[in-house]
Amino acid sequence: MIPVNEPLIAKNAQKYVLNCIKTGWVSSAGEYIGKFEKNFADFLGVKYATTTTNGTAALHLAIAAFGIGKGDEVILPNLTIISCALAVVYTGATPVLVDGVEDSGNIDPTKIEEKITKRTKAIMVVHLYGHPADMDPILSLAKKYKLAVIEDAAEAHGAEYKGKKVGYIGDVGCFSFYANKIVTTGEGGMVVTNNEKLYEKVKLLKDLAHSSKRRFLHEEIGFNYRMTNLQAALGLAQLEEIETYIQKKRWMAKLYTNGLKHIPNIELPGEQSWAKSVYWVYTLKVKKQSPITKDSVRKKLASLGVDTRDFFYPLHQQPALRRLGLFKKEEYPVSTDLSKRGFYIPSGLALTEKQIRIVIDAVKKAATA
Ligand SMILES: Cc1ncc(COP(=O)(O)O)c(C=O)c1O
Repeated sequence: MIPVNEPLIAKNAQKYVLNCIKTGWVSSAGEYIGKFEKNFADFLGVKYATTTTNGTAALHLAIAAFGIGKGDEVILPNLTIISCALAVVYTGATPVLVDGVEDSGNIDPTKIEEKITKRTKAIMVVHLYGHPADMDPILSLAKKYKLAVIEDAAEAHGAEYKGKKVGYIGDVGCFSFYANKIVTTGEGGMVVTNNEKLYEKVKLLKDLAHSSKRRFLHEEIGFNYRMTNLQAALGLAQLEEIETYIQKKRWMAKLYTNGLKHIPNIELPGEQSWAKSVYWVYTLKVKKQSPITKDSVRKKLASLGVDTRDFFYPLHQQPALRRLGLFKKEEYPVSTDLSKRGFYIPSGLALTEKQIRIVIDAVKKAATA
């Protein structure tokens, strides 16, 4: 089976991780945490970056740091991982959904304003599958209604919107370093911002909110969302190779696009003129009104030894969220349809050209009615 996402472990990973073990710096103190944070901030061109246990925690911290909670609303796209909605729910606030755009599935900026109420405090933007969302109209809405903009760049390390790296275009950016991400720490995350106060608040909250007056005195509810030095050591080594990784993703996408562009029943991912996608994964959609279904194509691909993954399930249909009384009678036709038609093919950094050719041939066979 060609796996859908196999990580590539960087040259210096062993050396750095072993160094933590040899020196005993294995918890959340140690030199690699600061180095990883600094280098990640420098890579993006942002002032502040702080590590977290994972991307879900990063999103939770970002929302909590704005003081968002019960009675508040946060706007987010319908087609995304449940982490985005969970992070809102954890704070006691209410997630409010917006449908996606046809091409990338990212939040549709033209459908945001109708969802803004007196309770809205923030817009969470997700740069889905490596392609940036259209930020300018979102930033103007945020300015007009005085809302915070939280970017979820978990899947878009190094992706660019009008020449700017995503993650610090809004007020705060959140990243995941799960094993399938471009930079990985196994499990891990990062919050980045240019806002010093927000950064200090995130750092406070992620470390149990020890009072500045006295350690072990706590004036507010914090969390333990600290990354370990071991994870940061791996992250630092991965980050040293990020440019090569991004180039590899784009090379992979080019090979796939050239190999698959003439298949009648399949739609390929696009790249907007204002965007640099990092093609975190290479997405395919079965065309509307096509004689084949996504399930039949994925089944055939599995029988040919090619692993695939479904698009996210729309948030408004998630039983765990509906049980909270959310999203009843709401409809999101574009994202629901994309979720039905979309899946992705092997896209890991360890993928070889030979494997890509095998996948292309398999998709040709599987997508033929
Ligand atoms: C868009 C997006 N946001 C958030 C997350 C959550 O990150 P983590 O798995 O590190 O908690 C993920 C997935 O990993 C993701 O793909």
